[in-house]
Amino acid sequence: MLVLGFQGSPRKKGNTSFLLSSFMQAAESLGAQTRTIEVAQKNIIPCKEYIVCEKKGFCPIDDDIKTEIYPLIRQAEVVVLASPIFFYNMTAQLKAVVDRCQTFWARKYKLKLTDPAKKTKRGFFLSVGATKGQNLFEGFQLTVQYFFDAIDARFEGGLTYRNIEGPKDMARHPTVLADVEKKASDLIKPLLDRKKILFACRENACRSQMASAIAQYLAGDKLEVLNGGSQPADKVNPDMVKVMHEKGIDMGFRSPQRIEDAISRITPEIIVTMGCAEECPYVPGARMLDWDLPDPAGKPLNFMRQTRDEIENRVKNLIKELI
Ligand SMILES: Cc1cc2nc3c(=O)[nH]c(=O)nc-3n(C[C@H](O)[C@H](O)[C@H](O)COP(=O)(O)O)c2cc1C
Repeated sequence: MLVLGFQGSPRKKGNTSFLLSSFMQAAESLGAQTRTIEVAQKNIIPCKEYIVCEKKGFCPIDDDIKTEIYPLIRQAEVVVLASPIFFYNMTAQLKAVVDRCQTFWARKYKLKLTDPAKKTKRGFFLSVGATKGQNLFEGFQLTVQYFFDAIDARFEGGLTYRNIEGPKDMARHPTVLADVEKKASDLIKPLLDRKKILFACRENACRSQMASAIAQYLAGDKLEVLNGGSQPADKVNPDMVKVMHEKGIDMGFRSPQRIEDAISRITPEIIVTMGCAEECPYVPGARMLDWDLPDPAGKPLNFMRQTRDEIENRVKNLIKELI
């Protein structure tokens, strides 16, 4: 379960950095996996309004957003935006990230695709400002709310601190550590208690991708879903993406990975194999299920559709049995 944090201040060891890293430490100590993006250190080009995303669902600009940040936003189940207030909003560096997420907005509202993690994805913000103004965080919050809607995350509010100016002011705040620990626990604990299930196949390009996305889409609030392959392909199968998009489930920004990597930090309680039973690593105590489904790669599109529907039926039955 990934918690992804964006540190939006250009000041490396300032207040926002302290606030976000305290939150991430609390999340890790609860058992979550965390990743922090130092936004000012990244190569992020502001949106150029090419509008390719609204027609094709992807952004043609080649930078860290495309190669690193889109896939991480998709993978994360908790996304945290952290920024100091600069003129009553987030910093320009963080706003550039938000604007480039128009790609997610377009996939959702123009292409009518749904993130398979929609049931669980949560968004939360952290902010500091120097003054005591009553409306200090309103501009940031409004932008954040629309951002979280675009990435299909449920808005979970924020922690905000006024009267914070010098770079060490946040660290001296009397309640900050207790505040972030409470917020991290409220947000993350329910997600860590889910049953863990791994879907595996050989290439992690078709069958296990479809099964994991369908399971997450239908029951992500009850199941933590992993996927992997014994011999991962370079990219997911475009026909698989097409037939899943026919069902409205967004398979964008996914890449095949090794089974060992999928389970390196989380031990699944159930493992469903599809054509890789002999090559699947032994996980003590895990219940093993082998679904005998032929590989649809390279076969006609209709065969991919039949495989998708068969997987959907099997996933639905499994969910009924498990929860
Ligand atoms: C360009 C700029 C604009 C700012 N605008 C505001 C503002 O509108 N309201 C406010 O209360 N503080 C404002 N500040 C102060 C910062 O929000 C404050 O110093 C904060 O603690 C910096 O956090 P950091 O250490 O994480 O960078 C501004 C600072 C800068 C550099």
